[in-house]
Amino acid sequence: MRVLSGIQPSGALHIGNYFGAIRQYVHLQEGNDAYYFVADYHALTSVRSAENLRKYVFDVVVDLLALGLDPERATLFVQSDVPETTELAWLLTSVTPMGWLEKCVSYKDKVQQGIPAEHGLFAYPVLQAADILLYDADLVPVGQDQKQHLEITRDIAERFNHVYGETFKLPKPYILDQVAVVPGLDGRKMSKSYDNTIEIFDDPKTITKKVKKIVTDSTPVEAPKNPDTCNLFMLYRLFASPAELADVEGRYRAGGIGYGEMKSRLAEAIIAAFGPAREKRAELVAHPERVEAVREDAAQRARKAARIVLEKARNACGLGR
Ligand code: TYM
Repeated sequence: MRVLSGIQPSGALHIGNYFGAIRQYVHLQEGNDAYYFVADYHALTSVRSAENLRKYVFDVVVDLLALGLDPERATLFVQSDVPETTELAWLLTSVTPMGWLEKCVSYKDKVQQGIPAEHGLFAYPVLQAADILLYDADLVPVGQDQKQHLEITRDIAERFNHVYGETFKLPKPYILDQVAVVPGLDGRKMSKSYDNTIEIFDDPKTITKKVKKIVTDSTPVEAPKNPDTCNLFMLYRLFASPAELADVEGRYRAGGIGYGEMKSRLAEAIIAAFGPAREKRAELVAHPERVEAVREDAAQRARKAARIVLEKARNACGLGR
């Protein structure tokens, strides 16, 4: 099966990215034909410093390798190393009704947050459709917030196929219920734009500081608490073993566990969980040439796959000789 997904280089990756997407990337690289990319064309809608963008792209490649993507198993490339993407995006734009894009929640959200209503932001889902369709992807592992983009991708593919004849495969989203929306410090979806993130590779001190900021109610230690509505518990659940979880859940329901203790447990669990990846990351940072070699090799492989589909799409709509 062809698996594909992308992640924007718009700052450091957070634990929402990890549980909502990256962990699935790592599982799915086994036994599948996996393509993962750093979506730098997409990041142009928000990152406006060339220096920062280059740094973020390098950082995301390093982070993904440190977190377990294996360049022998998966093709880990940078989106703009495959410029075929933008050509396909134009072919798709030409069959995409404005109304489909106007109803996109993420566009409306971003404009509401004060991000300028530029055409790139508006057309973002078409570029994302191109990313996916260009690789004949069967399965796209993502968090819940990308579901609508996946639906539009399928709609665009169907419309192109209807207009020009069977060209694109229809991809399916792969969203795991338990981690579809990882909450942030304030209980809303963890997201850079809400400034409520815990970064995967924050130093231990910063992690502890951020965990202390997690918003809870003021139920006293001895009172029973409902784990199902507790933000702190939701995050802890991602890191704890089944035995730890059962223990903590029991103490929540019976009373006798305080939020202070939970915060210490959570901070320790986060620091421990990413310890080995942190070491691997430091090693990669010390050898940028290794990272560059992965990028170069992956770009060639990705481009080869992309050219096949692009050629088919160009032919279908009458471009070229
Ligand atoms: P991005 O960069 O915002 O996020 C990368 C991945 O992390 C998931 N995610 C979350 N999952 C659960 N809980 C959260 N709090 C959380 N925050 C982020 C996202 O759902 C995503 O899977 N438009 C995409 C990038 C993209 C893409 C693609 C994805 C571009 N082209 C093609 C798939 C296929 C984005 O901005 O993701």
